[in-house]
Amino acid sequence: MKILLTGGAGFMGSNMIHYLLKTYADVEVVNFDNLTYAGNLENLRDVESDPRYSFIKGDIANAQDVERAVQGVDLIINYAAETHVDRSIMNPRSFVDTNIIGVFTLLEAVRKFNIPKMVQISTDEVYGAVLEGESEERDPFEPRSPYAASKASADLLCHSYAITFGTPVVVTHSCNFYGPHQFPEKMIPLFLCNLMEGKSVPVYGDGQQIREWIFTEDHCRAIDVIAQKGNIGEAYNIGTGYRVPNMEITKKLLALTSRDESLIEYVKDRAGHDRRYALSSQKLRNELGWKPLVNFDEGLERTVEWFKANEVWIGRCRSGAYQDYYDKQYSNR
Ligand code: TYD
Repeated sequence: MKILLTGGAGFMGSNMIHYLLKTYADVEVVNFDNLTYAGNLENLRDVESDPRYSFIKGDIANAQDVERAVQGVDLIINYAAETHVDRSIMNPRSFVDTNIIGVFTLLEAVRKFNIPKMVQISTDEVYGAVLEGESEERDPFEPRSPYAASKASADLLCHSYAITFGTPVVVTHSCNFYGPHQFPEKMIPLFLCNLMEGKSVPVYGDGQQIREWIFTEDHCRAIDVIAQKGNIGEAYNIGTGYRVPNMEITKKLLALTSRDESLIEYVKDRAGHDRRYALSSQKLRNELGWKPLVNFDEGLERTVEWFKANEVWIGRCRSGAYQDYYDKQYSNR
């Protein structure tokens, strides 16, 4: 089976490439990535010489790049996206380009080249803030940030293509991910890196916003099962039920890094900050037999250990220096 995995140099994409190569002996994985600020080929250094792995630099919003990459592919998993809400508030344009035009371009390629299946990775944020209860797959979309709106738009395009053209696409809505290799702009890795350096952590507003969290490995297994058994044209929520206020996670991170609460810095709240997300993942559990295996405290400890052991990686991420790695490894090929 040949899989085109877009955004494979990012946090979730690189974890999925490792998972696929470890789990399936006969898999071939093509990593298609535009190497924006969050893409880092160092995340894949250990699989670079694996004959089952290859890399193509390209943009999912560029039809020529995509058509070059999709030939002979059995499955596309689209991880490529702009994902950081704060960046979407500062610069929405790149979210429209990558998250909407990029998915449109992939869907067109799936049609044109009769690709057997595409999995679109999306987010719980499309449902908007859920103050009570849980979001189900059939709930209306009420995105409240440019990021969430761009993902919701792409999900609607996927749905329409499945109905109108019979395009074999499945959409996933996941809760917040965390784990090794996550770019230190999202809350958990940002706070962790700051605390490791003895710096304060910027808690937005009152820190009582609630998110649901999944460890990267559990998410990889969910995508695997959805790629194999998910029904075309349908969506699947991926959630753990582990929902806590940001302050609770902040306190766990303080304890794991042996820091005290004097490093908590309350800062101005994010514009339009969603108060709570919560997903019902019964459909995925009951119909496809998936369940999460890593509890939050175990996953967080593993994440903290990885970050403590990878200070060079952190420094390079924070300075943008890993772009040099691409130049050395690939630019002359
Ligand atoms: P984030 O990791 O950006 O994910 P998302 O916005 O997609 O949920 O943020 C997680 C939560 O942490 C969210 O409620 C915003 C909050 N947060 C902070 O309080 N401070 C920060 O510096 C960041 C990046 C996030």
